[in-house]
Amino acid sequence: MNIKNPKLSSDRQKKIISLVLVYWKRLALAALCMIVVAGANGAMAFLVKPVMDDIFISKNREMLLLIPGAAVLVFFLKGIGSYGSEYLMNHIGETIIRIFRNSLYEKITDLPIAFIHKEKTGVLMSRITNDVNIVKGMVSNAVINVFRDFFTVIAFLFVIFYRDWRLALGAFIVLPLAFYPIVLFGRRVRKFSTGSQETMADLNSFLHETFTGSKIIKIFNLEALEKKRFQEKTGALFRLEMKKITANALSSPIMEFLGGLGIAFIIWFGGMRVITGTSTPGTFFSFLTAVMMLYDPVKRLSRLNNTIQEGAAAAARIFDVLEEESSILERENPEILSGRALDVEFDHVGFAYHPGEAPALEDIHLKVAPGEVLALVGMSGGGKTSLVNLVPRLYDVTQGAVRIAGKNVKDLSLKSLRDHISIVTQEPILFNETVRDNIRYGRMAATDQEIEDAARAAFAHDFILSFPKGYDTVIGELGSRLSGGEKQRICIARALLKDAPILILDEATSALDSQAERLVQKALENLMKGRTTFVIAHRLSTIDYASRIILLKEGSIREQGTHDDLMALKGEYFKLQTLQSVKGNEE
Ligand SMILES: Nc1ncnc2c1ncn2[C@@H]1O[C@H](COP(=O)(O)OP(=O)(O)OP(=O)(O)O)[C@@H](O)[C@H]1O
Ligand SMILES: [Mg+2]
Repeated sequence: MNIKNPKLSSDRQKKIISLVLVYWKRLALAALCMIVVAGANGAMAFLVKPVMDDIFISKNREMLLLIPGAAVLVFFLKGIGSYGSEYLMNHIGETIIRIFRNSLYEKITDLPIAFIHKEKTGVLMSRITNDVNIVKGMVSNAVINVFRDFFTVIAFLFVIFYRDWRLALGAFIVLPLAFYPIVLFGRRVRKFSTGSQETMADLNSFLHETFTGSKIIKIFNLEALEKKRFQEKTGALFRLEMKKITANALSSPIMEFLGGLGIAFIIWFGGMRVITGTSTPGTFFSFLTAVMMLYDPVKRLSRLNNTIQEGAAAAARIFDVLEEESSILERENPEILSGRALDVEFDHVGFAYHPGEAPALEDIHLKVAPGEVLALVGMSGGGKTSLVNLVPRLYDVTQGAVRIAGKNVKDLSLKSLRDHISIVTQEPILFNETVRDNIRYGRMAATDQEIEDAARAAFAHDFILSFPKGYDTVIGELGSRLSGGEKQRICIARALLKDAPILILDEATSALDSQAERLVQKALENLMKGRTTFVIAHRLSTIDYASRIILLKEGSIREQGTHDDLMALKGEYFKLQTLQSVKGNEE
């Protein structure tokens, strides 16, 4: 996917912030916990002075009891504060992850299939799995760090200035030097991070494709090629990751070295003040402790910038999907389709999959009466599937209009439109659920009896009973045991169960043997009675009952009429028919 905006626009930032702010009570409590942690950190540095001056130098026995007690209390409070802030912030982070995942899934499910075809499945999956996690890292870890470390830095600064403000002012001349490299590294890391996430998504989709296509890879001996392609991808990922790691790894020693310069200065300047008697050893060590303890939160704050950069890049990719506009929209107050006798009209329809490309359908003008059975035939790629896909608005026409019962499908509510259409797609699609549930998808309210009746009508009942758990067998448990014809019959049962007034059968029986096909055909013919039906078939013998036959070639209607009309024409249909019957006689 093209990253339209690797930086988060202020709009998107506002969206994330408003998402987080919903949990303001939890945030406030977490902030309180962080203040406790910060206070405890500051107190530790603060206690160094009484330890030094009162216990070691003045040898005060009272302090010998008091200070260890105070230390216990400080660590206890710090523990509670840490737990509270970690728990609460992660709770918010995980909640936000879930919201993002759910809305991504909802969005992708609602987007037209053209979108899913354009983006690779694996890439879309990685939006929901990987990218969302990175955003969580930004929201919870980064936010925990930013607040806790920010408060901690303030606590240490307080100790530092309280102990010796002159020394403090001197030391802070060195600090700005450390700032510039942080900004520099942040920028580099963001650049590599976007690259490596994109490569990761690409890797995911490669895996998805090659694992599902493993059969082809074996048969065509593509193993070596695929292995090499995979190695190239991991190689690219490796180089990007290493660049990111180098930037990250360099930022720490450089900062450490700059910090070392500061420490050297403090020892020289502070030591001089102790020697001249302007300061005590306790003050000096308390100061030095606070400065050294300051190093960690500052370093984390610098890393935080990187985490936020990574998160922003991931969030940008997520928002690109979330803000994708559906091209198949309902108009306001859509009409509701009703009735059982529905005619379908193609009014000078043109359709192209991509604007500017050669159209898949051209000037289709066609009226199908209620209850008519229309057969679509023609060479592969002629546009049959494309034509029927326009009826349930899987795609939208680019010219003309499709009307059902006189209403433009674009004016109908998508739900009522699709409620009235049942379809057996060219590739049988089953979900990894029980056989029963797969059929039930046709009509969620159907009873078990109705499901079995539909399966019987599709001649699926007997083989379903032979499965280990019958109707309750999960498709995945069968592995690839289901044959193409068995899959098709389950899909037919699903379509039968739906009992919709418009029926689309796209090569619904193509994987069945002649005998099974004849049986299923009977069931389908019964089903077609009274329904407006589109049947697509390559085997012309299976459509002789159709009241009208349309021959599509290169996206337009070349011939139409009854079987006899078309035979008399001695055109394309005649050619197809004679080819098939010669072949049929040979068999
Ligand atoms: N998702 C798609 N994106 C772009 N072009 C497509 C897409 N699906 C089909 N096409 C193109 O549209 C044309 C018509 O394809 P269609 O699937 O409608 O043919 P068909 O008549 O159903 O063929 P078959 O009998 O092989 O199923 C073909 O040229 C095909 O390459
Ligand atoms: Mg097709």
